[in-house]
Amino acid sequence: MGRLLTRAQIQRLVATYGREVLEHEHMNIERCCYQHGNVTTFAHSIRVACLAVWMADRAHLWYRVDLKSLIRAALLHDYFLYDWHDWDEGRHRWHGFTHGHAALANALRDFDLNRIERDSIANHMFPMTPMPPRYIEGYLVTFADKISATAETLSPDRFNRRELPASPSHASIEGPSC
Ligand SMILES: [Fe+2]
Ligand SMILES: [Fe+2]
Repeated sequence: MGRLLTRAQIQRLVATYGREVLEHEHMNIERCCYQHGNVTTFAHSIRVACLAVWMADRAHLWYRVDLKSLIRAALLHDYFLYDWHDWDEGRHRWHGFTHGHAALANALRDFDLNRIERDSIANHMFPMTPMPPRYIEGYLVTFADKISATAETLSPDRFNRRELPASPSHASIEGPSC
């Protein structure tokens, strides 16, 4: 890639390379769960994907980064498919430490993942979790996630939560739902 990517170009790349993930029916669960502030897990994941691509572009990392793996890992990094704000008898108490592996388990069930995608999803919470990412794509996802999560958590809009619709796919998913 020659010139720097525009926001629209980055969004198109995410839509193109992330299509299989974005169109999966289980993404409906992410659409009905808030992640940080008033941002759903679905919207957060797209933000992380766009920011990770932006960082790779601005850092001129294209000779080292697999774009499709980067986008898919970013879109799936929080694919844990529950609302971690629910008390749920304490089952989500360790969410911050465990959800990377929960996301990976769900993603492996629903998609064929390569080693970059698997590692980047599992270790995106580093340094809260002990294993650092093994690939540069994982570091991009991790940095983009931290930046997005901080911005979403501190946003003045964070209290303006609308009621989210119940996902029609709830009944077909095992485990907790939002
Ligand atoms: Fe996460
Ligand atoms: Fe995240």
